[in-house]
Amino acid sequence: MNFKLSNINHEELKKWVDEIITLVEPESVYLCNGSAEEYDLMCKTLVKKGSFIKLDEKKWPNSYACFSDPSDVARVEDKTFICCRTKENAGPTNNWMDPREMKETLNGLLKGCMKGRTMYVIPFCMGPLGSPISKIGIEITDSEYVVANMHIMTRVGEQVLQQLGTDGEFVKCLHTVGAPLEKGQEDVKWPCNPTTKYIVHYPEERSIVSYGSGYGGNALLGKKCLALRIASVMGKEEGWLAEHMLILGLEDPKGRKTYVAAAFPSACGKTNFAMLIPPVEFEGWKVTTVGDDIAWIKPAPDGKLYAINPEYGYFGVAPGTNNKTNPNAMKALGKNAIFTNVGVTPDGDIWWEGLTETAPDGVINWQGQKHDPSSGKPVAHPNARFTAPASQCPSIDPDWEKPEGVPIAAFIFGGRRASTVPLVYQAFNWNFGVYLASTIGSEMTAAAFGEIGKVRRDPFAMLPFCGYHMGDYFNHWLQLGRSLPNAPRVFCVNWFRKDKNGKFLWPGFGENMRALKWIVDRVNGDASAVESPIGWMPRYEDMDWQGLDFCRHDFEVIMEVDREAWKNEIAQQEELFLMMYDKLPKEFIFMRELLLSQLWRSPEHWGLQPEVV
Ligand code: GTP
Ligand code: SPV
Ligand code: MN
Repeated sequence: MNFKLSNINHEELKKWVDEIITLVEPESVYLCNGSAEEYDLMCKTLVKKGSFIKLDEKKWPNSYACFSDPSDVARVEDKTFICCRTKENAGPTNNWMDPREMKETLNGLLKGCMKGRTMYVIPFCMGPLGSPISKIGIEITDSEYVVANMHIMTRVGEQVLQQLGTDGEFVKCLHTVGAPLEKGQEDVKWPCNPTTKYIVHYPEERSIVSYGSGYGGNALLGKKCLALRIASVMGKEEGWLAEHMLILGLEDPKGRKTYVAAAFPSACGKTNFAMLIPPVEFEGWKVTTVGDDIAWIKPAPDGKLYAINPEYGYFGVAPGTNNKTNPNAMKALGKNAIFTNVGVTPDGDIWWEGLTETAPDGVINWQGQKHDPSSGKPVAHPNARFTAPASQCPSIDPDWEKPEGVPIAAFIFGGRRASTVPLVYQAFNWNFGVYLASTIGSEMTAAAFGEIGKVRRDPFAMLPFCGYHMGDYFNHWLQLGRSLPNAPRVFCVNWFRKDKNGKFLWPGFGENMRALKWIVDRVNGDASAVESPIGWMPRYEDMDWQGLDFCRHDFEVIMEVDREAWKNEIAQQEELFLMMYDKLPKEFIFMRELLLSQLWRSPEHWGLQPEVV
């Protein structure tokens, strides 16, 4: 045992670690120090086990690929629980079980679950060390893959224990792949429990137990479990926000910088938007990246909201990422990266759908078989991901680790909608913005589960990540707005509107700059808009079209507010609202009525008179 209990001077932590050792019966225990040597040790151990494939050092320096078990490729929402004391507090959109009952079930599963394995204790910090917004977690895990990924995704190591001191607060995060090894039993390449998985949160105790999965958000407990589900509860109690949002800065040619935060559901373009490179015609404009997935946002004494990215790396969707769609991500993942469920070539190269036009000869698919183009099976799993250090992103914002965060001037909400929702529009005010954000939806992708193409309501892109009743969450947002003298403006976007033939109407990616510029200009009082039934909208002449062949007619199509489609949309939103009737903000009833009454007005009333700025 190289575990040095002497390195832990925190009584409660010591006691918890001892308890877990007794429960899970590991072969050995290892306290992580966060060093580069330790990262290498994890990777070498994984290579020896056959779990990691070392990639060609010239093409992909210090990088590895691995394939997960086919039963373990994404978050498991049906096995994710919020175990607060009362079901009412978890709300209708979360799975709930009585904490005592859940603990009984889990203790049965956890007994001896690390037999034959090393138990790693990872002290990690979400947010810059020493920031008043940061939170410390301790993850106990039996997975070297998790240790290596946590090194990239969070700040790990000795300094965290120092910061914690003798009585600091921390979130207890227990993770096991749920695959104990009997004496002499050989390990598999991706240990997990193919039949039993539980991702459990005890918000009142600030603790997490994750059993049976080794993949992404199920296993890297700092991310969705701590930084969203537990942190959202802390935020509700303490008056701040933990959100599924990217944070970016837009610098204009004069050097003025405006920060915005944007929430899109999983696999709907946060990473791409956060790292956007403006078209060449936008000389002097620059997008900088603060974060690509999670934002912690707090009101400051100056009356503004300040945001930090609690993460230290990116766990990004690989398919579709290439030098055209996201050159910054390609550079970020160019070295010191881990690739999970992408294709691998025998000479240590990797490939995924969209990386280049065609798959290289001889590529092995994510299931370890030689790719057969005629089979229709993809090379990479649709939810294949790269893990890469944020510091390697060329667009990283110079202030991304500023302890006090960056000031947020606007919130943007979006989803994948083939019809109905226009390219970009601005909510009439904060309350209306909260209403619009709570009604966003997205068509299912192959990466989420459910019927492909069907619209799934995903309020604030937080449906799978809110650690308490979603109705209380809406009220928390409304309450925050009441306390802000000049609340950020709220916008909605949709890059995914399609024509009758199923073709995207909007070029997307770097061209999203055109919508972003209008948004930032609005915030700074530099752009006009006209009123529409659903909010303020740009006219064709209010947006910058240099270098893009997008005519007035195309614009009218992508901005259309179809009255019948919107009445239908409102009817569909009711399904979600009826579910949370008991806690739905009364404001929402009036917002809905306002929206309906506006849809009833004749279309001639709209879009004639631009607002004067
Ligand atoms: P999570 O990490 O799951 O929270 O997702 P994310 O929101 O960061 O998703 P990401 O940026 O990785 O985008 C996932 C998919 O959306 C990729 O397949 C992209 O190619 C696609 N995508 C991103 N931006 C655009 C866009 O502007 N237009 C179109 N058509 N597709 C886009
Ligand atoms: C998401 O699903 O929104 C992700 C990936 O960001 S995971 O970390 O696996 O949840
Ligand atoms: Mn996400």
